[in-house]
Amino acid sequence: MKKITILKFKYYKEKHYKFSAITAYDYSFVSLFKRNPVKAILVGDSLNMVVKGNKHTISTNLRDIIYHLKCIRATGSTCLIIADLPYICVNRFDSALKSSTLLLKYGANIVKIEERENCFKSIIKRLVLKAIPVCGHIGLTPQYVNIISSYVIQGRDSYSSELLIDSSIWLERYGVHGLIIECVVSYLVQKLLQLLAIPIVGIGAGPTADGQILVVNDIIGILDNIDKLPFFVKIFIKESKTLDRLVHIYSKSIEKGFFPNISNVIP
Ligand code: KIV
Repeated sequence: MKKITILKFKYYKEKHYKFSAITAYDYSFVSLFKRNPVKAILVGDSLNMVVKGNKHTISTNLRDIIYHLKCIRATGSTCLIIADLPYICVNRFDSALKSSTLLLKYGANIVKIEERENCFKSIIKRLVLKAIPVCGHIGLTPQYVNIISSYVIQGRDSYSSELLIDSSIWLERYGVHGLIIECVVSYLVQKLLQLLAIPIVGIGAGPTADGQILVVNDIIGILDNIDKLPFFVKIFIKESKTLDRLVHIYSKSIEKGFFPNISNVIP
């Protein structure tokens, strides 16, 4: 299979072709995705919670992201590999540049950066000017859980929705190649889709986004509290017999527009 590049996502968007992405942290799972139509794999800082058992993503270190990136690279996956820039690396340009460069060196194709209330716009702009491919992450940004207080839906009031629109427009202007939008009210996502030309990947952002992403542990049903399933998660293991089929069904459901559906929309 041919390597999926950043450019390919622009093509998917232009052709209104919905695509799937998933987080992954190790060799064996990504070996499953190799036989499936997932287009992008995120080595997310969620690994700090789901792999290491921490309460937040804030304490994720670059060494861990690189370790898991290497595990994934070892599969020879042709998916686009996205890597998270940890919280501790993002707030000074020199550390953001050095860390992003290392992520690219160890196999990421693009670096994902959480942007909160325009705080990191200028750092992202400067990284793009240094030829770092960047994907923005807005809405519910878990690295700023101390500011947002808890993992709650974003963009409900006019002030926060204006801020999200403003950040998105600037990020596109500064040259990010795509946006992950997490837990944002769906009418706002629709507005952003009208305003932006870059691909938008949703998680808890309704069915209209160009692509969808979920945490791999969630679709398998490995959750701390299975009775408290977030509204945007679907456990795909229920309708598939093997893990290989699970990823296939997950991807196909997204591509065909069956997932997410009305039951996964923020009320
Ligand atoms: O780290 C992560 O897994 C993420 C996704 C939830 C988008 O940022």
